[in-house]
Amino acid sequence: RDDLVGVSRRLRGVAAAAARSVGPMLREAFRAPLEVSVKTGPQDLVTEHDRAAERTIVRHLLRAHPDSRVLGEEGGTQGAGRVLWLVDPIDGTTNFAHGLPHFCVSVAAVLDDDLVAGAIYDPIAEQMFTADLTGAWRDGAPLRSRGAPTADQAVILSDYPAGRDLARGPVAEVTFGALAREFRSVRRGGSGALALAYTAAGWADCTFATSTNPWDIGAGALIVQQAGGRYLAFSADGEPVTTALHEAPNYVAFAGDADYPQVTALVRGR
Ligand code: IPD
Ligand code: CA
Ligand code: CA
Ligand code: CA
Repeated sequence: RDDLVGVSRRLRGVAAAAARSVGPMLREAFRAPLEVSVKTGPQDLVTEHDRAAERTIVRHLLRAHPDSRVLGEEGGTQGAGRVLWLVDPIDGTTNFAHGLPHFCVSVAAVLDDDLVAGAIYDPIAEQMFTADLTGAWRDGAPLRSRGAPTADQAVILSDYPAGRDLARGPVAEVTFGALAREFRSVRRGGSGALALAYTAAGWADCTFATSTNPWDIGAGALIVQQAGGRYLAFSADGEPVTTALHEAPNYVAFAGDADYPQVTALVRGR
């Protein structure tokens, strides 16, 4: 256990340094002329900078911790080492491509199926959120999240309903409308990872999403939990899942001991 704590501390440093290493290139690329490609459709973009940032991050990780393998959004899997890194080089590509200054780099370390370290770096605000098995921090300061006790005092961050939810029929619009009425505010920011970081900080009381990938949530899930919040993930059929590597989990995260059962029910499809 002592060993594992030490390893997680070291991996947190590696994750943070790798995420920060692409700060200058992302700041320089932001709002400069840009080539944007669509992946699966007009709501799913990628730029040359997503790919370049991922290459730089992966090189950094493999150099700093050679016993590694990587699962990255733009590059797929690489390496065969013991530590698995989940890398999202730009979370919030649509914001980045449109000139909206709300996106981040997310890097998480998984050891034997458990999240042990994570870093979420906002290169525009130059703000770093990190966690290991001993705590969570924003820059140097420990994070301790507290959530609002009732919905009418709570701010929710979520990109729900996304295209895939809307494709399932009008139920998503109806449930979204109900949340918008009940909560103080429901905001769609465009970066799931930053939404988790903000929930960990207690700036938002809750965030949730549907059909996410491991690289979207790895770092944020650990940061929320280590800040004293709760992170709950569910499979597509609404069953609890415990591994960060689960395919396309639906999740809800609460700041501190906040609990809004209507959000959990929505996420579970109940
Ligand atoms: C996206 C962001 C967004 C979420 C999308 C993700 P990307 O990640 O996290 O908040 O709503 O589902 O795909 O593609 O910008 O890395
Ligand atoms: Ca993407
Ligand atoms: Ca993402
Ligand atoms: Ca991305």
